[in-house]
Amino acid sequence: MKVDVLLGLQWGDEGKGKVVDVLTPEYDVITRFQGGPNAGHTLEFDNKKFVLHNIPSGIFQGNKINVIGNGVVLDPIIFKQEIDGLREKGVDLTKSLLISKKAHLILPTHRILDAASEVSKGKTRIGSTLKGIGPTYMDKTGRNGIRVGDVLNNFEEKYAVLKEKHERLLKMYGFDYDLNEYEKGLKEGIEALREFTLIDSENELNRYLKNGKSILAEGAQGTLLDIDFGSYPYVTSSNTVCAGACIGMGIAPHKIGEVYGIFKAYCTRVGSGPFPTELFDEDGEKMRNNGYEFGSTTGRPRRCGWLDLVALKYSVMINGVTQLIMTKGDVLGCFDKIKIATAYKTGGETIEEFPYNLPDDLEPVYKELPGWNCDLTGLNSEKDLPEELKNYIRFLEDELEVPITIVSVGPDRGQTIIRKKN
Ligand code: GDP
Ligand code: IMO
Ligand code: MG
Repeated sequence: MKVDVLLGLQWGDEGKGKVVDVLTPEYDVITRFQGGPNAGHTLEFDNKKFVLHNIPSGIFQGNKINVIGNGVVLDPIIFKQEIDGLREKGVDLTKSLLISKKAHLILPTHRILDAASEVSKGKTRIGSTLKGIGPTYMDKTGRNGIRVGDVLNNFEEKYAVLKEKHERLLKMYGFDYDLNEYEKGLKEGIEALREFTLIDSENELNRYLKNGKSILAEGAQGTLLDIDFGSYPYVTSSNTVCAGACIGMGIAPHKIGEVYGIFKAYCTRVGSGPFPTELFDEDGEKMRNNGYEFGSTTGRPRRCGWLDLVALKYSVMINGVTQLIMTKGDVLGCFDKIKIATAYKTGGETIEEFPYNLPDDLEPVYKELPGWNCDLTGLNSEKDLPEELKNYIRFLEDELEVPITIVSVGPDRGQTIIRKKN
């Protein structure tokens, strides 16, 4: 058996949570492999809505095993809030959620350091979700981190040592903070974690494969936020791309099967950083309002713009995408014309390859296609799709050389059209 991977091809919020939930019945195990509670994955079904941050999106469809892999950074405080919230709604995960002992812990001082770093950067701040992601991955690669497995072994001592180091750094920043409330939450969060099955997930996941179980790995963030290949330094601190799934689960590259690349029919971004096709006009406003483009984790309005094919081609290449999933075509139902950036102009030159830096003078070169100008949200079969949308899909498939096998036409689980692989 192989591991299929589903990951974002843009700047996050492509609809990963929704589609992982839709695909879950086909799998035995769902895993997260990187990122942490900077993620906000929204699922809607039976008139209910859930936003997951730490927990994989495979928890609502049968008794699947869900695994938090070693590449994830886990905040015990947010984790407990999430577990408690789900328990109140009748979902108990103590038996079905397994957590890697090698996942790193986000401590309260990581969150404070994140805030201090952003304040010190001023205008060049990343626009971080302030969940402590950067400082936690820095401690991981700097070999100072505390891992989930440590909650079973001298956690308090290890915490005291790292906290002291962090407090020295915070003094350097001259940053004011109050740890008291956070530390109470941390204690409860650590206790909550101890109730779960903490495992060497790389062994368990490889055993599942050997025993014929199917695994779907759920990415967080998106390719353009990848620490190596994204719009650096305006990125997150983990490898969001397909190779990150191998590292974040302990799975060999040849054991990766399908790579589902998910993208919106347009583009959004939260936080700072370049965004070549960003719209500052009425059209951008329409996308934000129709698509309800506000961050699932922070509530910040998302920046909106037309689809960027230069960036999308790059993402398809880096990830080796084998199937594409397009979401939110319904949001563009109010446009007469739809634009797609097929190249950039910069310094008098036209470029078609995603460049090292995205300079300020970068101007997208657009191709215009006719809009579908209708409501897609009630459609449930490929044959009902309007001709203009089929044309849009055909154009993208030709350009990207990968089939679009799923088209999502609304936030609900049921608003999903599965197309045949060409
Ligand atoms: P994720 O981070 O990739 O899981 O995406 P988010 O959940 O942060 O953001 C996607 C938003 O779009 C959520 O509010 C989803 O409920 C919603 N959504 C997903 N697919 C569609 C779709 O096809 N159409 C519309 N209108 N909304 C969608
Ligand atoms: P999901 O999984 C969209 C963005 C932040 C910021 C940058 C760095 O829901 O798609 P960080 O908190 O990681 O230090 O922030 O990355 N960002 C996301 N944007 N969706 C996400 O996750 C994101 N996670 C981080 O806004 O610009
Ligand atoms: Mg999100």
